[in-house]
Amino acid sequence: MDLSQIKQETLVVASTYKPEPRFLLAVLQDIQRKYKYLPKQSLEVVSEYLDVPLTKVYGVVTFYKAFSLTPKGENIIKVCDGTACHIKGSMNLITEIKAVLGIDPGQTTADGKFSLEIVNCIGSCALAPVMMINESYYGKLTPAKLRAVLESYREGGMVDAK
Ligand code: FES
Repeated sequence: MDLSQIKQETLVVASTYKPEPRFLLAVLQDIQRKYKYLPKQSLEVVSEYLDVPLTKVYGVVTFYKAFSLTPKGENIIKVCDGTACHIKGSMNLITEIKAVLGIDPGQTTADGKFSLEIVNCIGSCALAPVMMINESYYGKLTPAKLRAVLESYREGGMVDAK
């Protein structure tokens, strides 16, 4: 995607809001949803459109964990490492993901298919250890079950491993 396309698309997203600084978070959320990260060019457009200094835009982006300045994979894996999941072996899941996909938390596979993140309790402790891929939850995971789930995403599909 060329830079001017990103700028144009960003302007389309931003202009669904009035050009007022109070819409900064909402616009950033929409852009993050669209690209799964916030391209630098988008931030420049947002700064200009909402009349918010670029330094302030970056301040907001770096403050909120939900925003990312680097491209993420097509599928975002979130492994819960809250207390319940930790006790039930969340670290084994992370080790298994590294073995299968070759990535550590915070990294994206070279083919752009997966990114791995560690998160705190996602409210499904009864299913510990839990991970999410995009919007789907996978609970009571074992390394073998995890491997099967990852394979299904690799092939482009999904399995219900709840
Ligand atoms: S600790 Fe993992 S879902 Fe609560």
